Amino acid sequence: PPAPPADFLPARHPWDTLWVNAHLATMTAGAASPYGAIENGAVAAKDGRIAWVGPLADLPGRAEDLAASVQDAGGAWITPGLIDCHTHLVFGGERVTEFELRLTGASYSEISRAGGGIAHTVRATRAASDDTLYTLAARRLTALMAGGVTTVEIKSGYGLDLEHELRLLRVARRLGANFPITVHTTLLGAHALPPGVNDAPGRARYLDLVCDAMIPLAAAEDLADAVDVFCEGIAFTPEETARVFDAAQAQGLAVKLHADQLSDTGGAALAARYQALSADHLEYTSDDGLDAMAAAGTVAVLLPGAFHMLRETKLPPIAGMRARGIPMAIATDCNPGTSPALSLPLMMSLACTHFRLTPEEALAGCTRHAAQALGLGASKGQLAVGFDADLALWDITRPAELAYWLGGNACVGRVAGGRLD
Ligand code: NIG
Ligand code: FE
Repeated sequence: PPAPPADFLPARHPWDTLWVNAHLATMTAGAASPYGAIENGAVAAKDGRIAWVGPLADLPGRAEDLAASVQDAGGAWITPGLIDCHTHLVFGGERVTEFELRLTGASYSEISRAGGGIAHTVRATRAASDDTLYTLAARRLTALMAGGVTTVEIKSGYGLDLEHELRLLRVARRLGANFPITVHTTLLGAHALPPGVNDAPGRARYLDLVCDAMIPLAAAEDLADAVDVFCEGIAFTPEETARVFDAAQAQGLAVKLHADQLSDTGGAALAARYQALSADHLEYTSDDGLDAMAAAGTVAVLLPGAFHMLRETKLPPIAGMRARGIPMAIATDCNPGTSPALSLPLMMSLACTHFRLTPEEALAGCTRHAAQALGLGASKGQLAVGFDADLALWDITRPAELAYWLGGNACVGRVAGGRLD
């Protein structure tokens, strides 16, 4: 018989995939319940976006009529896919000797001033081929993904010349093209002075290179989504940082800052003055810096792995951030020197234990607020209609358990852009 006209067909399968038998921690802004939790919920994806989210009982029809594929989540909790908004994932070598030296009393700054630290990794990174860097970073990325990460920021910063900085960004872009994860890249040419540069003219020449060549070329090739600087006594001054930020903004690139990690250089206030997406570390940030961040809407990215690894005792001013309503994100800072961290849930645990974040703040820090720290707050980090269908599924009894385990892996499923791994 002839087929009936299309408008007489029942609308079958408006959605691609529907997850049922799940509890949801939606993490939506302003949710009435802790975690925006919906017990016995369901979430649907269509064309890579979230098409429906709510209590299973409110589903507007039979699951099998609504979605081409119905997934039984087995009672798992579903959160927004985790977002690691600060990593230095692409590097050669390791810094184990430095780790051992620090355990015998040497400080991070002393090792850096003696020619070790970042300079050590720069030498190992320059010596590694593109494929070696890719393979090493891919292994680290795989570990982060296994822990529920669906978006990662990757900085350059271990090349410290034009050729190698752009090379690291290309490796990062290649990871984003080949893995089911969103990669955001950040040019960190101003991470340290290159090895061998130690006088004022050399310093000025290197900053010229960052501002006049690296930033424009990275922008022209679409290699960087943002620009970062390490503003610190052992790295760049606030004046130098401002120059790099001016160059970034001239290219229309967003800025972020490694601020006040080892001393108060006024980094947080400087970042705020440039409307930075985030200021990161912030152990030594003053009340003035916090006031400026709050006024500018700059996200505070907390890096408890580096705090832990450096045996830091100065806590970031969490109470001051809370009092001002500054969004707090949490990231691994995965890097060979101060935070060889490959698990974002472990960072949630450290943030709770060291910084006294609540487990709910810790999860917001790896979802909604981390998205904001990358300028992705309108599309990622929440289970809400229209947001990207990036999900993580967890074998836990309630959301606070995410920040409870020290290691292990409770992640039992991962969905990026609507696709199951
Ligand atoms: O975020 N603080 C500067 N950069 C990294 C450490 C880099 C390194 O030591 O290799 C950080 O902690
Ligand atoms: Fe860092």
